[in-house]
Amino acid sequence: MLIAGNWKMYAGPDPSALADRLAGIRGVDVVVCPPFMRLVATVEAGLTTYAQNVHWEEEGAFTGEISAKMLKAHGVAGSLVGHSERRQHFGETDETVARRTKAALAAGLAVIACVGETQEERDAGDTETVIRIQTEAIRDVAHGHAKVAVAYEPVWAIGTGRIATPETAQEAHALIKTIVDVRVLYGGSVKPENAEELLSQPDVDGALVGGASLEIESFASICETATRIRS
Ligand code: PGA
Repeated sequence: MLIAGNWKMYAGPDPSALADRLAGIRGVDVVVCPPFMRLVATVEAGLTTYAQNVHWEEEGAFTGEISAKMLKAHGVAGSLVGHSERRQHFGETDETVARRTKAALAAGLAVIACVGETQEERDAGDTETVIRIQTEAIRDVAHGHAKVAVAYEPVWAIGTGRIATPETAQEAHALIKTIVDVRVLYGGSVKPENAEELLSQPDVDGALVGGASLEIESFASICETATRIRS
């Protein structure tokens, strides 16, 4: 089970206070994905730290980007790739997601690659096609890779308080696992109150938590739920 906290463009909780609170939690992999300026502080606090994005080149004229080598040099263990906010607002495509994933893995970083349909795509009956295309884009580099997880994040469930039913999540996760053999996390309005039923689904191997990861207690509570379910 893997629980990852995506702080997005929020400063997030105090890294040492968070590390202290999480210290006793065993049997679940816990990851935080802070904004760039906090990466070093979370690494130094002993938290397994992922970036929110990673470029495919080692260095160069790519303003606003950061390379896998640079992240590694600072003790960062992995990166999110292809989050829907990057796909929606920053022109991320299936092709760039694949390039980022490949470069991160080659440098020894772990990757959480995000996939998921929008409301319009769901309404049009295209959910399966969208998940398939987005997941197939990373299959060659990700299949069976121990350092890769896919996060299924239906876009309509992100930051909205609307969550996929456990059955909807399970169905999407099972589909993803027919394409790539990796852990599949659920993301989209995961909270302490709904974590248990989502994480209890057989193909839900963890969660990518946004808003609820900004509060130490709510994030710790989701991590504790994960521990209980898999123990
Ligand atoms: P949310 O965000 O939990 O705030 O919906 C999840 C995500 O975007 O990763």
